[in-house]
Amino acid sequence: MENNGIISRFNKDILSQEDRVITPVYRDDDDQENKLRPKMLKDYVGQEKVKHNLDVYMHAAKRRGDALDHVLLYGPPGLGKTTLAHVIANEMGAQVKVTSGPAIEKALDLSAMLTKLEKGDILFIDEIHRLNRNIEEILYPAMEDFTLDMVTGAGAMASSLRMQLKHFTLIGVTTREGMLSSPLRDRFGIKFRLEPYTNEELTSIVTRSATILGIPIEDDASFEIARRSRGTPRIANRLLRRVRDFADYENLNVINLAVTRKALEFMDVDELGLDAVDRNILETIIKKFSGGPVGLDTLSAATGEDATTIEDVVEPFLIQLGFIQRTPRGRICTLGAYKHLKLKNN
Ligand SMILES: Nc1ncnc2c1ncn2[C@@H]1O[C@H](COP(=O)(O)OP(=O)(O)OP(=O)(O)O)[C@@H](O)[C@H]1O
Ligand SMILES: [Mg+2]
Repeated sequence: MENNGIISRFNKDILSQEDRVITPVYRDDDDQENKLRPKMLKDYVGQEKVKHNLDVYMHAAKRRGDALDHVLLYGPPGLGKTTLAHVIANEMGAQVKVTSGPAIEKALDLSAMLTKLEKGDILFIDEIHRLNRNIEEILYPAMEDFTLDMVTGAGAMASSLRMQLKHFTLIGVTTREGMLSSPLRDRFGIKFRLEPYTNEELTSIVTRSATILGIPIEDDASFEIARRSRGTPRIANRLLRRVRDFADYENLNVINLAVTRKALEFMDVDELGLDAVDRNILETIIKKFSGGPVGLDTLSAATGEDATTIEDVVEPFLIQLGFIQRTPRGRICTLGAYKHLKLKNN
């Protein structure tokens, strides 16, 4: 029934992205995230290369008694950037000041934050691509030479004062690396892109989270959630919380495979983590356009889904799965998509 509810909304006003249980973007019901965040590197699952390099850099900085070089973390939503930023702070035993690009409205706000930092402190700027350009410019000398140019007075009386800052570490986080200006990007000595997680890694994230939530989970049930989580820990944790509700409802004291499957079916998340929105796009290309090629605007008109949303939100995962290919003449569905939807390719 829930299924019909979703489908009937197509072509009217489409399921908003936030309504999708498999959206990688933070939703209000993810408010338990802090509780589930690993605090130290040893508990942070996956991203092995990133962890190894970080471990080396952090050790070296600590041994020399220096602050860690500035760190830029980027990658799609829900992969653990914020979590990793806090892990770095914990591992360095550093004080952390948290802010975000859109929260810094005036140059003075940033200057005030910078002057309060002690040696080794971490300034964490989330969504750093949304910093105002004139504010961003304050960061250049601050990151490079630990200096801050303050202008006092106005007009003919204005004078500039150069202040020395303590050696702090800036951790910048962004989902849109391409939107960073190159002067800013170049001033980060350490840059890491977080990658989607394997099913095995997500399985251990689910098992760990279940322990924290106080309900044991069987291995095959963890794996079932993992493989439907689109490589994204945030989705895995969200699905786990929903599955737990079903288990509670059935008075189970352990989450097993049967209740997990039932819950996921009810949520309309299929074996690969696709929901009704994804399937609608694939089915439209296959059924209305004989598998494509079909142009983005035509596809948007036929599905009622916004073109930008298709391109930025829906398509990337379908492309990653190899179900859709972008060609100069439009989108085409591959055999894999036909097979997954159990449709014939004739
Ligand atoms: N490597 C990991 N190991 C265990 N749990 C993780 C890991 N990465 C992320 N998580 C979990 O996933 C959730 C989302 O992670 P986080 O908030 O760090 O993502 P993000 O990349 O900052 O997302 P956004 O781009 O939306 O800000 C957290 O609750 C955290 O518990
Ligand atoms: Mg974040």
